[in-house]
Amino acid sequence: MTTRIFHNSDVHFGVENRAALDAFAQAVHAEKADAVLCTGDITQRCKHSEWASARDYFAQFSCPVVLFAGNHDMPYYNMWERMSDPYARARRLIRGVGSTLESDDVVLVPLKSTVRIQPRFPWSDGFVTKRALTQALEELETLKEDPRHKLIVCHHPLLGESDSAKNPTIGGDAAFAALAKAGGDAVASGHVHTPFDLTRERGGHAMRMLGVGTLSTRLRGKPPSYQVLTFARGEPIGRELRELPA
Ligand SMILES: [Fe+2]
Repeated sequence: MTTRIFHNSDVHFGVENRAALDAFAQAVHAEKADAVLCTGDITQRCKHSEWASARDYFAQFSCPVVLFAGNHDMPYYNMWERMSDPYARARRLIRGVGSTLESDDVVLVPLKSTVRIQPRFPWSDGFVTKRALTQALEELETLKEDPRHKLIVCHHPLLGESDSAKNPTIGGDAAFAALAKAGGDAVASGHVHTPFDLTRERGGHAMRMLGVGTLSTRLRGKPPSYQVLTFARGEPIGRELRELPA
């Protein structure tokens, strides 16, 4: 058996690319995807109208829809809400149309890489707290003897563009090393709007980084894209990048 996850990210409802979203949805339906995964920045400004559009869109899928919040999915204008309950709006969407994936081939291990406030600007970059990392590591610990692939899922890439480049994700290097050591096979992420498939190493442990582009109009030198990840026990993770017209 195999499990095929259609992974998109950074759809940014409010400045979404409608043609790209339609193409993604059509592929999910036509190819009978096993799951849809969105790794955050579901909205552009965390407005209620944008969440409503997201709900309409993700409600159309009959397969499990696994949704994560990104840095754009915390309130921008309502500082009280941002500080007191930053993920309330994302939670409402997830409760409404989100689900979990049950698969014989892969387990998704969430890692929170967003924080409501940081001791630096911009607040948009990644920040893996000790607590977030501990939660992911505890989950990996329970899966130690599990033969399925372990896919870490987060919004921000854990490492910089190259080993010599500065890593914009605070705590990312340590998280990557610990997760790879604990048995993580790959990390699926978004945020940078450009796709990549790299095998990187920290502390003597390698792990694959599977980054996907955007389905919004906020392009950064690359066309809109999504990726199809295929999991089968005992086989390498398959990854097909699908680029769409801008
Ligand atoms: Fe982001």
